[in-house]
Amino acid sequence: MRFLCTIILVLGVWYTPQAQLPELTDEQAKQIEELLDDMTTEEKIGQLTLFTSDWDVTGPTLRGNYKEDILAGKVGAIFNAHTADYNRELQRMSVEETRLGIPLLFGYDVIHGYKTIFPISLGESASWDLEAIEESAQVAAAEAAAAGLHWTFAPMVDISRDPRWGRISEGAGEDPYLGSRIAEARVRGFQGDDLAATNTLIACAKHFAAYGAAQAGRDYHTVDMSERVLRHDFLPPFKAALDAGVQSFMTAFNELFGVPASGSHYLLTEILRDEWGFNGFVVTDYTSINEMIPHGVVADEKEAGELALTAGVDMDMQGAVFYNHLRQSLKEGKVTEAQIDQAVMRILRVKMLLGLFDDPYRYSDVQRQEETILAEAHLEKAREVARKSMVLLKNNGVLPLSKSGQKIALIGPLADSQADLLGSWHAAGSAEDAITLKTALEDMLAPSSTLLHARGCEVEGEDRSGFPEALAAARQADVAVLAVGENWWMSGEAASRSELDLPGVQLELIKAIKETGTPVVVVLMNGRPLAIPEVDETADAILETWFAGTMGGPAIADIILGDANPSGRLPVTFPRNVGQVPLYYSMKNTGRPMEPNNKYTTKYLDVPNTPLYPFGYGLGYTTFEYGEPSASAETFSEKNPVEFSVKVRNTGDRAGRETVQFYVRDLVGSVTRPVLQLKGFRQIDLEPGETKTVTFTLTTDDVAFYRRDMSYGWEPGDFELFVGPNAQDLQSVRVELTSNKKSNP
Ligand code: NOJ
Repeated sequence: MRFLCTIILVLGVWYTPQAQLPELTDEQAKQIEELLDDMTTEEKIGQLTLFTSDWDVTGPTLRGNYKEDILAGKVGAIFNAHTADYNRELQRMSVEETRLGIPLLFGYDVIHGYKTIFPISLGESASWDLEAIEESAQVAAAEAAAAGLHWTFAPMVDISRDPRWGRISEGAGEDPYLGSRIAEARVRGFQGDDLAATNTLIACAKHFAAYGAAQAGRDYHTVDMSERVLRHDFLPPFKAALDAGVQSFMTAFNELFGVPASGSHYLLTEILRDEWGFNGFVVTDYTSINEMIPHGVVADEKEAGELALTAGVDMDMQGAVFYNHLRQSLKEGKVTEAQIDQAVMRILRVKMLLGLFDDPYRYSDVQRQEETILAEAHLEKAREVARKSMVLLKNNGVLPLSKSGQKIALIGPLADSQADLLGSWHAAGSAEDAITLKTALEDMLAPSSTLLHARGCEVEGEDRSGFPEALAAARQADVAVLAVGENWWMSGEAASRSELDLPGVQLELIKAIKETGTPVVVVLMNGRPLAIPEVDETADAILETWFAGTMGGPAIADIILGDANPSGRLPVTFPRNVGQVPLYYSMKNTGRPMEPNNKYTTKYLDVPNTPLYPFGYGLGYTTFEYGEPSASAETFSEKNPVEFSVKVRNTGDRAGRETVQFYVRDLVGSVTRPVLQLKGFRQIDLEPGETKTVTFTLTTDDVAFYRRDMSYGWEPGDFELFVGPNAQDLQSVRVELTSNKKSNP
């Protein structure tokens, strides 16, 4: 009877192929069924258990001896253990010294590189270059898969509109459309098209769901939102990751609709499995089953485990809740054998797809590890992606600097900091491998130039004792380059800030240097949008470089010395001050849209509504001129999409890349619609004087939304189509979507 149940489970639930990835053969499926038949309850629970090794600390440590657990067959997956040799030994213990010899699954937070560290994810997203983002994930996967790893806890696809939240650095910014395209690119990059290939990893879409909407930007804080907002703004990147074939999902720490995500049947079963048809496995975030006790929805760990398994969790990360209590829950009939079997099958399926049952050591290859890690091609790619991620926020003509005959004063706490370049979640990345801006400039400046260096101040604190040296250097120089911002640990997990300014006395230093009369170039390194109006007023040029990774210094130098033309565009709005937060381009109009001379309209007394730098914004060393956009017709319909075109000309004197952005506004809906929604973008490379025509197609699918009755579909009426270089600088035409009926695509 149990065998029959298993077959039904196999065929009915987890045999739906996603994306174009290979699925289990019938023979492999049968092998798993037979294995399941042989497993004791304890061994099954072992497969649902993920423990951290003692290598890296990415959360509270609960258990000491994971090796004993491996030998006892009580653990199915290990994270934070890596390198070919080490993981081979752990794998040997599991495969050769346990009763059933089931291979372990090794996971790790390979977020923006394994050893060759790329820019932080928010920075990469600023490239808007999906190919580059995919390639970055490919490099990360190739290095990690050579170092014994099978699984990355990435991509983080949480939309966030609150820069106080430190984890905004790990995602793709504020926009569901851009976030979805980037989620797909990252999943494709990590997973490739063959999960068993030894240069790919399985990916994990996290944190499901709405973690980026933590109240007041405080990490782990409560999330509450309407179902419509959830579905419009926060779920799309998860669905995009799923459609790209992602093999695992990680639950979020937060509650949503009053239920912690790790206990949410609605999220983990009704949406993820029933509505979306996900056939991979769900892992919790770190001890988040246990955390349902302080959340206040269960009284103890046993009950927490029951809630989690029943909700749809397959694997318990580090909480040891399934490990300690699930057997008892089964005895008491609080969970069923079929529920446990289902979770085990989902995990074994992925192990099988990874090829671990054929060769459990295939990902632990010392020679491949040596050849792959920090390979020259990887470092080059990291430098290229870093260049593409940088956003020129201001330039009065001081940039680019000449390489020869210049006296440059390089100032600031981040000019020569290797560790800060790596950003948070830098996996196995080592600070010693990172090349700073100082080192890069020393290397790249012509002998006729001079580089003076002074630290000036620290990122934090009140110490101004370094100011005189920095001012003296600036006085002697033709230009001062100030590398300022945040320390790497000021963003990422558990790194919320209530202020968005430059910490410490860095702004004071910038102002003091400016007073010397020497032009000031500010090179920002930070993991979130900063509110820096005074820096904007003071500096002659500002380059946002995020945390640019191992090759960050050379990439910054490529840009400030003019070898590369900056092309990054902000994937997130930069506010003027914290009080404006949340501030994002896709807001609603309200019933009293802002009118400067009318007091009773939506605005502040002390700050404009507009951001300091809008979504999509970024400058370069050339200029682009947009022609008048035109639509192919005045109307469109389900059968006849409309085309929307614009001519873009490079009006400067050097080649450059423009990111042409396409936004839509649905003017009247059964529910209020955002004033703008990104619906497409195109990157074009233009030589000086060259013109290209960019055409976007708008279909009814593109304008579908959750209508007043929560049905999903479009509504007829007027739409405004916008095009331009950012969300604030747009031209538009109006078209009508014609049809008498409301259609549901
Ligand atoms: C907690 C974080 O929220 C998650 O993103 C990460 O993958 C795990 N810790 C494992 O380190």
